[in-house]
Amino acid sequence: MTDDLIRKAAKDLAAAKSVAALTGAGISVESGIPPFRGRGGIWEKIDPSYADIDRFMRNPADVWNVLIKEMKEIIDKAKPNDGHKGLAKLEELGKLNTIITQNVDGLHQMAGNTDVIEFHGTFAWQRCLDCDERCETSKVELTEIPPRCKCGGIYRPEVIFFGEMIPYKALLRSKEIASSCDIMLVIGTSATVHPAAMMPGVAKENGAKIIEINLDETPLTGHISDYLVKGKAGQVMNAILAEMESLA
Ligand code: OAD
Ligand code: ZN
Repeated sequence: MTDDLIRKAAKDLAAAKSVAALTGAGISVESGIPPFRGRGGIWEKIDPSYADIDRFMRNPADVWNVLIKEMKEIIDKAKPNDGHKGLAKLEELGKLNTIITQNVDGLHQMAGNTDVIEFHGTFAWQRCLDCDERCETSKVELTEIPPRCKCGGIYRPEVIFFGEMIPYKALLRSKEIASSCDIMLVIGTSATVHPAAMMPGVAKENGAKIIEINLDETPLTGHISDYLVKGKAGQVMNAILAEMESLA
């Protein structure tokens, strides 16, 4: 069953002219970054309200201690896995143009993809709440929590918290990409957080084929997606690329 779908995905990708990808936390799980939902998910251990902007502004030290500090430790040492590398290879093959990612870990860029829309911002940078000066997260010392800028202001990561708007440009470009691709690969997302989760619907409405790669079914499965290739993102990408090579 999975083998048939891998062959099908390889054939579809080989025939496609313009592929886009929508990725979520699941693609970074094999890099040691936990997902938000499902088995081992962050929201099983921590109340999701820690990602609310109101909560951060009320008590930045608390949110740094419970959520951000651990994210920094995990992301600082994470490296791209075969899922990220597979998407970089698809770009190299001239198939994949753009990745819309909900992830803030920067691993797609590290793998070599050149057009990555960071829908929920980036964890690579911190911004001072007072003077707006930016500092690379890897250079921020955690000796004091919350970490502070030279001016004394508190740093916040340049990620989108719940309750904040998606950057207008990211939203607009994502809709454009979704409207013009002929395949959208939807990898490792539970497709539950909007507006990111509506991009596959936009793509489908414009005639694209939607291929999901995920350990489990999602709300898109059987409705918006044409088919789901079940498995770990890295393993499935490797299998699809190997099959594409044998077709060439
Ligand atoms: P979720 O944590 O909601 O979903 C992760 C998905 O990845 C699930 O559907 C899993 O089945 C799947 N998965 C887990 N391991 C996998 C693997 N090795 N290979 C393939 N799939 C795997 O993550 P997102 O959909 O990205 O938002 O979550 C969306 C947003 O919710 C995040 O960007 C974040 C969060 O709250 C903000 O912080 C604004
Ligand atoms: Zn400052």
